[in-house]
Amino acid sequence: MPAPSRSRHPSAASVRWWDRRPGRLAVVVLALLTAMATPALAQDALPQAVTTEREMVVTANPLATAAGEKVLRTGGTAADAYVAVQAVLGLVEPQSSGLGGGAFMVWHDGTSGETTTYDAREKAPMSATEDRFAGLGFVQAWQSGLSAGVPGTPMLMEEVHEAHGRLPWQRLFTDGLRLAQGGFELTQRTSDQVAGLLANNTSCSDRLYFRDPVAFDYFTNGSETDCAAKPAGTTMRNKDYADTLKLLRNDGADGFYTGHLAESIAEAVQTDPNIPGDMTTADLAAYDVVEREPVCEDYRGHEVCGMGPPSSGALAVGQILGILEHFDLGDDPLGVEAVHLFSQAGRLAFADRNLYVADTDFVTVPVEGMLDEAYLASRAALITDMDMGTALPGTPPGEFDPTAPQPASTENGTSHVSIVDRWGNAVSVTTTIESSFGNGVMVPDGGFLLNNELTDFSFAATAADGTPIANRVEPEKRPRSSMSPTIMFDESGELELVTGSPGGSRIIGYTAQSIINVVDFGLDPQEAINVPHHQNRNGSTELEAPIPGVTWDYDVDALRAALQARGHNVTVGSLESGLSLVEVVDDGLVGGADHRRDGAVGGR
Ligand code: DON
Repeated sequence: MPAPSRSRHPSAASVRWWDRRPGRLAVVVLALLTAMATPALAQDALPQAVTTEREMVVTANPLATAAGEKVLRTGGTAADAYVAVQAVLGLVEPQSSGLGGGAFMVWHDGTSGETTTYDAREKAPMSATEDRFAGLGFVQAWQSGLSAGVPGTPMLMEEVHEAHGRLPWQRLFTDGLRLAQGGFELTQRTSDQVAGLLANNTSCSDRLYFRDPVAFDYFTNGSETDCAAKPAGTTMRNKDYADTLKLLRNDGADGFYTGHLAESIAEAVQTDPNIPGDMTTADLAAYDVVEREPVCEDYRGHEVCGMGPPSSGALAVGQILGILEHFDLGDDPLGVEAVHLFSQAGRLAFADRNLYVADTDFVTVPVEGMLDEAYLASRAALITDMDMGTALPGTPPGEFDPTAPQPASTENGTSHVSIVDRWGNAVSVTTTIESSFGNGVMVPDGGFLLNNELTDFSFAATAADGTPIANRVEPEKRPRSSMSPTIMFDESGELELVTGSPGGSRIIGYTAQSIINVVDFGLDPQEAINVPHHQNRNGSTELEAPIPGVTWDYDVDALRAALQARGHNVTVGSLESGLSLVEVVDDGLVGGADHRRDGAVGGR
């Protein structure tokens, strides 16, 4: 790997967070008082960073991490490891990502020093029209064939392996196949999520959720009268998934996008028991992954690169950072000043995102203008000590189509993977089927769930005055995303940090916060994850309630009151990120995984 240029966090696992934070008397006194008040310090029990010498993989599931670790250990690249990780994630964390979904990847080549991005976002079918979701509520659209986009993940696996892999393709499916055939234990998280969706049904026989008998049989012990999620610890076997992996292993992505599996996908969509969709085998055969330029923003001397449109990720993260650069955030990650400034930058970034960002193959987005230095300085100048209320979009320099803002919507089913290999290559990939369990349909002989990514389009095509909305449905268009796979470089252009998270539109805030936690507050990757979240998506200011054993403990009521005094409308609740971080330091790598989910770090 290239000689890392920074000398930070040399022994992360052995240093506690209060030793690391700037040595202010107040912090020390607070730590001592806390120590006296509680017999065991809560922070002692928090997850600690992991250090390795030369390679590292962080995923949302220990079995997926183990698969990636094995590939890296046997001479695989980060691209090889991603293929193995994805094959396992689709099986063991099926509610979040899989072969029936899409992904965005930022790839950094350790040898050439180049960075590129892969857009494997799902596409709307050729027959899609802008009134696709007219008159439908989110749930109706979600639990239907209309929401399924043409999957991109299998083609991404093949393309990045062809471009950047070293190990034979066939070897990368070993763990996925072994687990699908031999069985794995259902996690508490998956079981709880099945139960959570089932609880929304009016009755067991009248199912809006898990309407698909294949998915229902796989995930529940249910019958017509008893809808029970399989309990955590159940040994799950998925023979159909194993057959799909064999098809991919033997025939490559062609085995997925053509032939009997493609027919089966199209049929599952077209015969959806709720609302039939229109995806055809021709749509599958026409799918393409697009390599695009990364979108980069300088932040206090670091270069932060991510995924441009159709994702709003790098633009919004870049705007937040570019605005924050005009301020000193202080030295407390949960200080009222830092939280206030971060919320205001979030408001401004979301106002622009909601107006301008969509698939640039269809609409003109002012990508450079949105990150223009003078433009961001003018946006930063709008920030005062008080909450600004709803931010209006600005007018960045450059061309854009006349467009109206898209109303807000919600999401929940995604995973982030960060990998660095021994050659200094890095993968930051956010992979998704959109909502929990995608659109709820398991392809009958495929063993994987279909996505509902098309609900990321604006349901309305125009505003009330007839102005078109940039992110309206159009044939073969990719819906706007918030996914923010990110790679950061230091002043000399050396690889420094790999980060990203699931979490719907909150991904932007989670990812930006992980960066300021490292850059501004000097935290190691695990500490950066353990800090409770806060953000503002141009609505209320959201604070994460502390989670014992997972996040730092803090006085959330005091922070809420301080923000309210500055005019904020504050909500406190769960902000369930799934961050995966790898940082390059002088003597190796430091990793952090998110224990709000089942995150795990591996490597050596
Ligand atoms: O592309 C997007 O922005 C969403 N479909 C991602 C959904 C998501 O992250 C849900 N996660 N927990």
